Amino acid sequence: MIDHFSLALLTLLSDGQSHAINTLAKGVGLEVTATLERLQALQAAGVKLALNDDGWHLLQPLECLEREQIRALLEPCQASLLSEICLLHSIDSTNAYLLQKLETGQRQPIACLAECQQAGRGRRGRTWSSPFAANLYLSLSWLFDPAPAHLSALSLASGVAVVRALERLGLTDISLKWPNDILWQHRKLGGILLESRFFGRRAGVVIGIGLNVAMPEQEATGIDQPWVDLREVNGGDTPSRNQLAAAVLDELLQMLVVFEADGFISLRDDWQRFDGFYGQPVVLHLPSGEQRHGVAQGVDEQGALRLATEWGEERFAVGEVSLRRG
Ligand code: BTN
Repeated sequence: MIDHFSLALLTLLSDGQSHAINTLAKGVGLEVTATLERLQALQAAGVKLALNDDGWHLLQPLECLEREQIRALLEPCQASLLSEICLLHSIDSTNAYLLQKLETGQRQPIACLAECQQAGRGRRGRTWSSPFAANLYLSLSWLFDPAPAHLSALSLASGVAVVRALERLGLTDISLKWPNDILWQHRKLGGILLESRFFGRRAGVVIGIGLNVAMPEQEATGIDQPWVDLREVNGGDTPSRNQLAAAVLDELLQMLVVFEADGFISLRDDWQRFDGFYGQPVVLHLPSGEQRHGVAQGVDEQGALRLATEWGEERFAVGEVSLRRG
């Protein structure tokens, strides 16, 4: 269990120096055995910690998320929209946490970030690998009143917001794959999971964003497709997770205001600008198990995929796209 003692330990260790166990125990106000237990729990959660003759130290630098830093980095008009930023050390899923807040009628919008997730959710029932302090796990809830006509386009609009945020941090060549994968050179950099609840004419949504920042190799063994992290995209330098969190939140909030007023229309051009598959021969895998071959033609104003097939243009609201080779 990652608790505030563990965070205090990480803060002491974040200078990259070696610390004797007695010094660490004293520093956080715990017995030596309890301190050791926490260090081992952190190791089990994927934090690269090692012990040498001088004591415990981090094998790679660690930047913990800081609520006040994130809030201060938001543009004032976006910051004023947020009712709360929840920063958690460990949670089953940031999406599940915010869905519960929606269901219990708490004031929206709420942002939730976690250092790690015990049961991070991916699309189509997959799990999302969420090791401690390595990546970004962020969810944002929003209450639409009334529910927008084409809520499914919101996940595409969220992809636009994430790419804009990454570009703002100077990261280039990021693209989108319908409906909402974030890619770099056709390797998965992140994903978006949108979950919703309806309350009469209102719709509450939770937009969950997972971005690989500095994914430890041993944590990626369960990822069943080519992947990449921002450290590699950025030439080996790990971008600041606090800056990343603020940029993503800022762009998501800006996008939500636009989406609430006009829907997907004005965001569609950017989606197509970032579309990594436009004009490419693709295979669309439908939930029924069927496949459709065609050439990707971007998306329509409701976020449906446009595919040029041998029978003419067809539009699809669901499915998984892959590149057709050969
Ligand atoms: C995908 O499968 O591509 C979507 C992954 C979405 C993962 C994020 S991490 C933050 C939020 N909380 C979750 O449990 N899932 C989303």
